Amino acid sequence: MKLTLSDPDLLKLGAYINGQWESANSGKTYAVLNPADEVEIAQVARCDARDTKRAIDAAQTALIAWQSRTAKERAELLRCWADLLLTHKSDLATILSAEQGKPLTEAEGEILYGASYITWFAEEAKRVYGDTIPYPSSDKRVLCVKQPIGVVACITPWNFPNAMLARKIAPALAVGCTVVCKPAEETPLSALAMAELAQRAGIPGGVLNIVSGETVEIGDELTSNDIVKKLTFTGSTAVGKKLMADCSATMKRVSLELGGNAPFIVFADADLDAAIDGLMASKFRNAGQTCVCANRVLVHSRVAELFLSKLTAAVKSIKLGSASDPEATMGPLIHRNAVASVKAKVQDAVAAGASSIVPDSSCEVDGNFMLPTILLDVEPSMRVFQEEIFGPVIPMTTFDTEAEAIRLANDTSAGLAAYFYSRDVGCVWRVSEALEFGMVGVNTGVISNEMSPFGGMKESGQGREGSKYGLDDYTEIKAICMGGIDQ
Ligand code: SIN
Repeated sequence: MKLTLSDPDLLKLGAYINGQWESANSGKTYAVLNPADEVEIAQVARCDARDTKRAIDAAQTALIAWQSRTAKERAELLRCWADLLLTHKSDLATILSAEQGKPLTEAEGEILYGASYITWFAEEAKRVYGDTIPYPSSDKRVLCVKQPIGVVACITPWNFPNAMLARKIAPALAVGCTVVCKPAEETPLSALAMAELAQRAGIPGGVLNIVSGETVEIGDELTSNDIVKKLTFTGSTAVGKKLMADCSATMKRVSLELGGNAPFIVFADADLDAAIDGLMASKFRNAGQTCVCANRVLVHSRVAELFLSKLTAAVKSIKLGSASDPEATMGPLIHRNAVASVKAKVQDAVAAGASSIVPDSSCEVDGNFMLPTILLDVEPSMRVFQEEIFGPVIPMTTFDTEAEAIRLANDTSAGLAAYFYSRDVGCVWRVSEALEFGMVGVNTGVISNEMSPFGGMKESGQGREGSKYGLDDYTEIKAICMGGIDQ
């Protein structure tokens, strides 16, 4: 498959190391496939541990000069990078849709979302403030300064091949760190196009390096190499736990944005139409392949029947199609394993007594496409309730009291996002405070933006991305105790 781009130079196939486009040391490449039809888009360098080590060494060499620049200089380069992303948003969206599958308009939305993090952190770069602290005796003062932690390893997922890189690389570069990034094997092209634009923006060689290919080898080098001082990862909880364990030998700072299992609670007094809109936005973004998407819908028994009839109509209006279909509102899942995994969870629930509704069952789908499905009579013991689904499936269950809704919502080891709809201000406070999740959407299904802290509690990870807190994970606090003042 040939991609038609206004700027064909954005389709990069090598590794980006020390400001150069290179083949993998081994000379090997691998195929990137379009999930809509599984046709090959490109062959990309299959990097291994040796390439990764070279990238880490380049990042280390570039570190001193980069951290010595003023925050204002770094901010200007980041801003220029964000502007280039926006200028080329249409080509970037074409690349992103082709390798990831989401419809073009959604892909363009992701480019804007990614650029918003770069712009935000360009601004925040200038606000890395310290403190002066009184000392117990009058002859001394303590000064706290924040310094870049050093070389940062970023491992990013396939569901947001642009925005998750932006959300990690921008704060790192803003505070003066340098980066080695390993994008998901399925979606390296967006990352490589971003690196091309970083180069055009004037971000110096070695400050940002991208290696894609042998996932385990690259990951092992990033976690074991003691030059790397911090690892940031977005992906599954199982992999996050392994990476955290692997980083312990060299005591790296670790931030993890892992799996969710978001409850979406609809109280009896909720505006049901608004709740349907919120649920559709949350659940079907990226075909249900986000870690913040509604995973369990809990509806008060008094409004459950009406809610279901409205939901069925809304789900029926979804139009499946590939990125080239301008009418498509939902694309395919990323690959066959993803489809098999979602279908297995649905079958498991049905075998255990849930009933399944496919609102648009007349539509024929194959390959990696999956019809949106609603599951009724879901029990907390079922896998669809306990595990992240990562697909277009809505498991529904009912409750009768606020306490029961909170108990069901918190009955999970995940703690990333939660949503609820109610117009009772007392309920809004009580439930917001009782939910054990890092992000709570009240009367909204859309919570992600560059200004809000993004991150989870419990097994959904640690650290926060975006917002004024998003720089903290990339800095060390140094206390400087100054004596000889009282003479
Ligand atoms: C994710 O699913 O990993 C990120 C979703 C978001 O940023 O909203």
